[in-house]
Amino acid sequence: MAVVHVSAHPLVRHKVARLRAADTKPPEFRDLVAAISRVLFLEATADLPLRPVPVRTPLADTTGEEIAARVGLVPVLRAGLGMADAMLQALPEASVWHLGLYRDHATLKPVTYYNKLPAQPDMDVALVLDPMLATGGSAVAAIDILKKAGIARVVFVGLIAAPEGIAALVAAHPDVPLYLAVRDEKLNDIGYILPGLGDAGDRQFGTR
Ligand code: URA
Repeated sequence: MAVVHVSAHPLVRHKVARLRAADTKPPEFRDLVAAISRVLFLEATADLPLRPVPVRTPLADTTGEEIAARVGLVPVLRAGLGMADAMLQALPEASVWHLGLYRDHATLKPVTYYNKLPAQPDMDVALVLDPMLATGGSAVAAIDILKKAGIARVVFVGLIAAPEGIAALVAAHPDVPLYLAVRDEKLNDIGYILPGLGDAGDRQFGTR
């Protein structure tokens, strides 16, 4: 059964309120996405393996630790970009694989229009980044792509999730843990999350 982790961190709750507010302008919105993403990244990577590394301090030789896993960040375009930037600052050694998906109006199925996965992705863990888990279609498709490419360990990180999206993702990929800032009430008739925050891409990039 999938682990669905909703952050209890007060900083996340504090910042989600400003993230939702309709009067929050793109510069502040991007800062909030980054700040919340950094906390979620720490929570989602708390079990990464470590290996010993020799360190010489100004006073003595000692042993430190370094992360022993290769981490891939997979932002779903375009709304996942702000999350990836924040996480890359925290772990600059991570690789970033951009995935572009849109929903075909006729079939309602996700279509991949951009895929920057390496031919042989040699990563130990991939984090799929999409701020809004609405129907779950894009997240499920992104994880399908990663698993087909041979990534054994995939984690989903999102800011706001609808129960419908969580259920779809857990049903399709029960082995994938979810790290979320908040679980919302429901989807509206056109697939937006309520109360949500509107369109996460538009709000980050000032488009509408
Ligand atoms: N994508 C968004 O940006 N917002 C939603 O509410 C749902 C999907």
